[in-house]
Amino acid sequence: MDDPFRTIEWKGDHIRLLDQTLLPGDEVYLRISRVDDLCDAIRRLAVRGAPAIGVAAAMGIALGMLDVPDADKRDFQRRLEEVCRQIGSTRPTAVNLFWAIDRMKEVVKAFPEADVADLRDKLVRQAVLMEQEDRDLCRKIARCGKDLLGDGETVLTHCNAGGLATAGYGTALGVIRAAWEGGKRISVIADETRPLNQGARITSWELMKLGIPVTLIPDNTAGALMQRGEIHKVIVGADRIASNGDAANKIGTYSVAVLARHHGIPFYVAAPLSTIDMSLADGRSIPIEERDPHEVTHIGTVQIAPAGVKVRNIAFDVTPHELISGIVTEMGIASDPFEESFRIFFDKKEQEGKS
Ligand code: MRU
Repeated sequence: MDDPFRTIEWKGDHIRLLDQTLLPGDEVYLRISRVDDLCDAIRRLAVRGAPAIGVAAAMGIALGMLDVPDADKRDFQRRLEEVCRQIGSTRPTAVNLFWAIDRMKEVVKAFPEADVADLRDKLVRQAVLMEQEDRDLCRKIARCGKDLLGDGETVLTHCNAGGLATAGYGTALGVIRAAWEGGKRISVIADETRPLNQGARITSWELMKLGIPVTLIPDNTAGALMQRGEIHKVIVGADRIASNGDAANKIGTYSVAVLARHHGIPFYVAAPLSTIDMSLADGRSIPIEERDPHEVTHIGTVQIAPAGVKVRNIAFDVTPHELISGIVTEMGIASDPFEESFRIFFDKKEQEGKS
């Protein structure tokens, strides 16, 4: 089954994206024609989730180069650097953003003789290709991971790693979808995912649209359900994975992983290879975004904490690799020692690219 929505789409002279801040109440598509507006959409999570942010970055770069005058190659280079810098400053944790920027820059580097019109065209084609690739990758991840889930099992997920966090189909939710579409009776427990409630607003909306049974819980209920034997597996996405397998994901993921280990429940991560940052030895050097205290003191426009209270609003945490039973990628399922698996997968992918 295809996604019942389109997360992000290139429309020739603008980007069309589903404004995720308005879900589940309103299904509103934004028409983005300026890089400033795209950066704003990424910052305020109108488009969110590591792979979707990567695609948005690539499309944003293509968009930013559309109106550079044909005659001016130097201006093109200057503008490219400026647009990449601007998009690169939106959110620090999801490595897919920086991976996408590098891939777009490589297109320009690969054709030093090309003129501005040609480069513009190549950047657009690359961005569109990256959107298609991401959808294909999600299907591959899903195929690799679907047998991890058994018939009749209940699977807990945190935040949203579905079609809305990617160009389509999803990573962690993709694995669940593939198992479900293969005839397994899976039900999902969705953590609400405070403070921005991606689980409540987005994951439960997405799963209900797909007809997959979902039960929403407050974040602090996961332990009690595990203790009662009501959760069989956990699967989440990731924003950046270090070479040793330490995985950054939405705040609260680490607590779920600790609980899962305590209860002997397998804990899986699903992510494309573009989320793996082999330049980092471990999760300690993953940059972690801290966001506006207002997101904690308010729900929407309603204030739920005293004015002026001190707040920590850390957007992501790092789950140490020891707590991860397997990392599902498009090239297979990595297990400890993760670095070895990752190297094999990257090599295999490179070979596939050459053939
Ligand atoms: O702040 P968000 O909503 O962008 O955070 C998203 C997550 O943490 C997702 O779980 C992660 O990006 C994996 S998405 C396939």
